Amino acid sequence: MTLEYINNELSVNGHGLTGIAREYGTPLFVYDENAIRTQCRKYHRVLEEAGLDYSISYASKAFTSVQMVKLLETEKMKLDVVSQGELYTALKAGFNAQDIHFHGNNKTVQEVEYALDSGVGLIVVDALDEVALIDSIATGKIDVLLRINPGVDVDTHEFIQTGQEDSKFGLSIHNGSALEAVNAIKESRHLKFRGIHYHLGSQLSTESPFLNALEAVYSWLSDSSLDIEVLNMGGGYGVKYVEDDRRFPVDSGFRRIIGKLKRLTEKYGYPLPHVMIEPGRSIIAEAGTTVYEVGVIKEIPGITKYVSIDGGMSDHLRTPLYNAQYELVPVNRTDVDNTEANVVGKLCESGDIIGKHLSVPADLKRGDLLAVKTTGAYHYSMASNYNQMAKPAVVFVDDQGTRPVIRRQTFEQLIENDIL
Ligand code: LLP
Repeated sequence: MTLEYINNELSVNGHGLTGIAREYGTPLFVYDENAIRTQCRKYHRVLEEAGLDYSISYASKAFTSVQMVKLLETEKMKLDVVSQGELYTALKAGFNAQDIHFHGNNKTVQEVEYALDSGVGLIVVDALDEVALIDSIATGKIDVLLRINPGVDVDTHEFIQTGQEDSKFGLSIHNGSALEAVNAIKESRHLKFRGIHYHLGSQLSTESPFLNALEAVYSWLSDSSLDIEVLNMGGGYGVKYVEDDRRFPVDSGFRRIIGKLKRLTEKYGYPLPHVMIEPGRSIIAEAGTTVYEVGVIKEIPGITKYVSIDGGMSDHLRTPLYNAQYELVPVNRTDVDNTEANVVGKLCESGDIIGKHLSVPADLKRGDLLAVKTTGAYHYSMASNYNQMAKPAVVFVDDQGTRPVIRRQTFEQLIENDIL
């Protein structure tokens, strides 16, 4: 992404962050719009080059908003939603309902009704009892995928592992429940079985779990004499937060995954399915930066220095929740040496940490701006109003300039549902 220093000022696509922060206030989420588009195009290119019938669904949970959905439409992306709220946002943006896939491990009756009324293209069935639930509500035919659990362990934070046997998501291919659900779908009046879905976990840096999943899935399909038209391999492609992280290698990774798919379909005598993937984080994470203003700086002699910023776990939950590490840089760079500090938020919680032992300019002072990089995914979408903090504004920046995408929440909005 084009986040770079120009005359010692951190800039996005040539636009300095000082001016943008002054105009929209802090904390502020700034997205490089070109970088989002580049990521969408990269996935299209790789799957197109593989000569596949494919589609790419962006996982809304990583970050959604009306403008984001409109951008995705221009990049020929489909959309994965997991709640009525995400579906509502997509429809309000004018997104074609047929290109929306409805997920969720516990869809409510109201959500199923809303999804069917809206005409979503696909529902991903996540549990046996959902078959009867959807069948009782649907009036016409609805295409479904079954979310299976391939029982593949992945090397990522425990909270974001999903494809292992012990999981609330999907139905196991090893204990008979997935097959039972396929049969129930086939016997239902309104559900049309189109294929299977799995999601192995998030922030995965290699293709090996995807290769293992394909092996397990095709051997199960063949043993069960099941045909599929659609194979949805989920998301989870990792990004680079800090120097030591390894990005999922989209080009070589997908070449190997598709190569394996071609070999397995040949081996078991299946046609190539329509391949779907659902990247969220890897589309949006590296395009986003959070800009904060420095407030209190406290030195505890012989112990450490605390630098407090004007946001915190209300807009940056991933460090408190997963101990996720981030790179933090000054918006205005000087040639003063760096020193070590704990950069913390302003919320009433000791775990409200942006990063410990970070390197910050030694002359940092109240009013300076700091930028936390790679905060585009699961930051705004996991933001809360803890301590009645208002959610920050979000802006997109391209070569032409900056455009607001989400306004800062107002204090009136914070109490708009309160009974006065
Ligand atoms: N598809 C399904 C069915 C999923 O459950 C997920 C993520 C995705 C796609 C997109 O995964 P991605 O490409 O973004 O890794 N809050 C956590 C991440 C939770 C992900 C849950 N599912 C975090 O901040 O790391």
